[in-house]
Amino acid sequence: MSELILETSRLILRPLSAKDIEEVYEYNSDYEVVKYMYELSVKPGEVFPKERTLEFLCGCDQEWKKEKPSFYEFAVIEKESRKLIGNICAYLNEDGTECEFGWSFNRKYHGKGYCTEAALKLKQFAFNTIKVKKIIARCDERNNPSRRVMEKIGLKLLWQNGFRRYPNTGEESTEAMYFIENGE
Ligand SMILES: CC(C)(COP(=O)(O)OP(=O)(O)OC[C@H]1O[C@@H](n2cnc3c(N)ncnc32)[C@H](O)[C@@H]1OP(=O)(O)O)[C@@H](O)C(=O)NCCC(=O)NCCS
Repeated sequence: MSELILETSRLILRPLSAKDIEEVYEYNSDYEVVKYMYELSVKPGEVFPKERTLEFLCGCDQEWKKEKPSFYEFAVIEKESRKLIGNICAYLNEDGTECEFGWSFNRKYHGKGYCTEAALKLKQFAFNTIKVKKIIARCDERNNPSRRVMEKIGLKLLWQNGFRRYPNTGEESTEAMYFIENGE
């Protein structure tokens, strides 16, 4: 697929790549950022391994080469500074009718509305270009910033009593799930 660029007033969304390792690892190595992330979560005092971040980014490069990617993982660039400040993605289900959103931002850029701005653009892309019928998003029930983003982009709470066990730490927790259908 040719390079896909999405733009908002303050941000550029472009394919996330292995070349982004240093900027992505700046926040993947931050406990406060990864603590509620299902696949990245570590115990307090531990650091998510850089090699695994690189592996993930190499996987993104491979996926972006496909005619029909099964996931769209974007780097979020702040226009003003040209800095990569986070990543945001849409993962498709098997028949491509639904996608799940995920996001993660460098802590220095939290609280400025950036994730909401990027997620609104991704929502538009998912409904109008990938043409999914439904978008879902899940998070740890304690993850209020993430829940607020879900609410601010129009997703509705489906349940908040799901069971979650973090694969890297074994920690058990409660999960919330939000959704929106096209046309709502
Ligand atoms: C979830 C996350 C991406 C939100 O990014 P963000 O750019 O800060 O989000 P926004 O600014 O668009 O707003 C979302 C909410 O974040 C909250 N928030 C987070 N950090 C904040 C800060 N430093 N100052 C003010 N508000 C903050 C606010 O409550 C805001 O909601 P509000 O507008 O109703 O007050 C970010 O907190 C993050 O990277 N978290 C760690 C990774 C993670 O948990 N990802 C989700 C896994 S499911």
